[in-house]
Amino acid sequence: MTDSTTDSTTRQSWWRGAAIYQVYVRSFADGDGDGTGDLAGVRSRLPYLADLGIDAIWFNPWYPSPMDDGGYDVADYRDIEPVFGSLAEAEKLIEEAHTLGIKIIIDIVPNHCSDSHPWFAAALAAGPGSPERERFWFRRGRGDGGELPPNNWQSRFGGPAWTRVTEPDGSPGEWFLHLYSSRQPDLNWTNPEVAEEFEDILRFWFNRGVDGFRIDVADGLVKADDLPDAGDGPLPYSDLDGVHEIYRTWRRIADGYPDQRVFVGEMWLPDPERFAMYLRPDELHSAFNFDFLSCPWDASRLRAVVDATLAAHAPVDAPATWVLSNHDVTRHVTRYGRADTSFSFADRQHLAPTDRELGLRRARAAALLTLALPGAVYIYQGEELGLSEVEDLPDSLRQDPVFERTAGADIGRDGCRVPLPWSGDAPPFGFNAAGTAPWLPQPPSWSSVTVAAQTDDPDSMLELYRRALRLRADDPALGDGTLGWLSGQSAGVLAFTRSETFACVVNLSAAPVELPAHREVLLASRPVEQTLPPDTTVWLRI
Ligand code: GLC
Repeated sequence: MTDSTTDSTTRQSWWRGAAIYQVYVRSFADGDGDGTGDLAGVRSRLPYLADLGIDAIWFNPWYPSPMDDGGYDVADYRDIEPVFGSLAEAEKLIEEAHTLGIKIIIDIVPNHCSDSHPWFAAALAAGPGSPERERFWFRRGRGDGGELPPNNWQSRFGGPAWTRVTEPDGSPGEWFLHLYSSRQPDLNWTNPEVAEEFEDILRFWFNRGVDGFRIDVADGLVKADDLPDAGDGPLPYSDLDGVHEIYRTWRRIADGYPDQRVFVGEMWLPDPERFAMYLRPDELHSAFNFDFLSCPWDASRLRAVVDATLAAHAPVDAPATWVLSNHDVTRHVTRYGRADTSFSFADRQHLAPTDRELGLRRARAAALLTLALPGAVYIYQGEELGLSEVEDLPDSLRQDPVFERTAGADIGRDGCRVPLPWSGDAPPFGFNAAGTAPWLPQPPSWSSVTVAAQTDDPDSMLELYRRALRLRADDPALGDGTLGWLSGQSAGVLAFTRSETFACVVNLSAAPVELPAHREVLLASRPVEQTLPPDTTVWLRI
């Protein structure tokens, strides 16, 4: 393929401007009444998603898993977690979604598997020096008796990234690497057997019709051979050439299928230029932009992030992606209602006071900002309902390994994973049949934010998302493309055009501001008259 064909093909690719809805299966909708979401629940709610106006669904891992890390601990990559349903049901779901015009992206977790995966059991049993151990990173410990971890790497969930095993003969033995929990051993991507296994897994799901993969920890698969201590430089487990090679191969597999398939990477890299180095139109097509998510509600900071993001993506011809929330971070209604509106994993500001009304107002404004930016947008289930983080879950019910590995210092991510409220006045709010408790308890106050309560209420968050997604889909200027900043705006205002006829203006200042000249207000996050109130976004026909 020549450069120019690559260019024109990717320019028309559906994912460049798609609105993608993230389904955390466990918490979306429960079809069989056991209090845990499942594929039957998703199937029953597909019309809701079609009506919302999204282009694709991204499913968090739906594979068999002990659920130590909410499914990111995969025990079998070619099947469905029995609590969620069956493979036959997943096939039906994919087909039904396609009939409704919705594409399906599924999560692939190549960096690590579960300690319940048969490979890990085989590695433990086979002992040091065996080919079974070569699929993982087993090493002798440091210190005379091998009693210290092999290097200084820290788990992203807290504590050392190494755990020592007991050998089959009962002696204290080697250590294995896990960048996440000790129940998620890292796979060794320098071993061709690992690469071949995942190529086969991709084919398995492409053959079942999935339209793409969200790649978990996309930058972290290839570790520096000698596993050096981590210092100030790039992470010794973020090798660029190594991952390019993997995604080039994956792309070739995808090219064997008639329709376009997308690969979206999950990477928490602080530097936008380094981030963009992982992207290429014929490999990893796009990745989540977490700088935007982490950015405080501040006009100049947000503008700087938007500019840096677009500038970093342009040379690699990748569409930017915009994300406000996901299953790992504090819901943005809660973040935006705090004194400090930024997000970082190091300081999740648990239980810092938050003003829900203020957070909601900003979240409405942020939704219209996000949906107007050039590129693809991800919507995390429940953000269209304006859900807050549930911060007061009883400790005994917390399931996230982060809570345990940090001895409670970080309460973890359960608060953004509480099952969705669909209807009714009391929990379980139609998530499952009354009489069974959902796997995490819903706040009684959610009676006012159910899908049923918000439907047809013109002032609701849900109707704002519905209208915005419809307008976005109908206006060819929105989605993929470029933006031009409008000059002459007051401080605290973000104003840009997407075409000669569309402008978006966000007022992040404390005072009302004049609207630029326009023909029509297409949509506003709050009522506007002559001026634009604080914390409000408006879409204008100019
Ligand atoms: C990603 C996922 C997160 C998971 C981690 C380990 O960051 O989004 O939920 O815990 O990878 O798989």
